[in-house]
Amino acid sequence: MLAEVKILGLSLVLISICHCYAQSNCNVSTFPVKENFNKTRYLGRWYAMAKKSPDSIFLEDNIYADFAQDDQGFMNATARGRVTLLENWPTCVQMLGKFLETSNPAKFKLKYRGALHYLQSGFDDHWVIDTDYDTFAITYTCRQLNDDETCADSYSLVFSRDPKGIPPGVHGIIRQRQGQICLANKYGRVRHEGLCLV
Ligand SMILES: *[C@@H]1O[C@H](CO)[C@@H](O)[C@H](O)[C@H]1NC(C)=O
Ligand SMILES: *[C@@H]1O[C@H](CO)[C@@H](O)[C@H](O)[C@H]1NC(C)=O
Ligand SMILES: *[C@@H]1O[C@H](CO)[C@@H](O)[C@H](O)[C@H]1NC(C)=O
Repeated sequence: MLAEVKILGLSLVLISICHCYAQSNCNVSTFPVKENFNKTRYLGRWYAMAKKSPDSIFLEDNIYADFAQDDQGFMNATARGRVTLLENWPTCVQMLGKFLETSNPAKFKLKYRGALHYLQSGFDDHWVIDTDYDTFAITYTCRQLNDDETCADSYSLVFSRDPKGIPPGVHGIIRQRQGQICLANKYGRVRHEGLCLV
């Protein structure tokens, strides 16, 4: 009986520690981002391998993005992928974006618009959480903050340079980063069937 009470007490302590830890950890402004992000090395094509979608319409599969630098030195990107705009009508769409810089080189403001009028346009934060430039990248956007500075509506993409997938050697670091941005186990795989490629 005493042992049971002790165990119960211990679990309650552990639960409350974990609870506090999770809470402070999910304050969006404490999320780690890539240090000394170098946009030159980030340019080129990235294939989305996994995604955590926002609340609204989002690219579904066959997602990739081409990053370039425009004449003014801003990073820009064309993202392509499939969406089902009407029931049973999947179609390839194109989104165009321009990345405005902030005081943190890994934290951008992304101005984007759909190439077609019925696609969304907007202005999102766009953070590069981590990348090694050569194999993987993980990005994060919080569209809506809660009062306690946790995120109410976020999206995140795991990118690979190789359309066939991310090398096993970096799976661990990606899982760790997904946990640090409070999105562990929230991702779905992005299928690639060679659709929407140009
Ligand atoms: C960024 O990377 C490019 C290409 O590797 C390199 O030439 C440049 O010096 C780097 N910039 C910084 C600030 O490290
Ligand atoms: C990005 O900049 C390059 C170079 O100016 C340009 O060719 C390309 O169309 C731009 N892409 C977007 C999405 O604006
Ligand atoms: C979130 O973190 C920032 C930066 O550390 C801090 O200034 C802010 O007070 C935190 N917000 C909450 C609700 O804990």
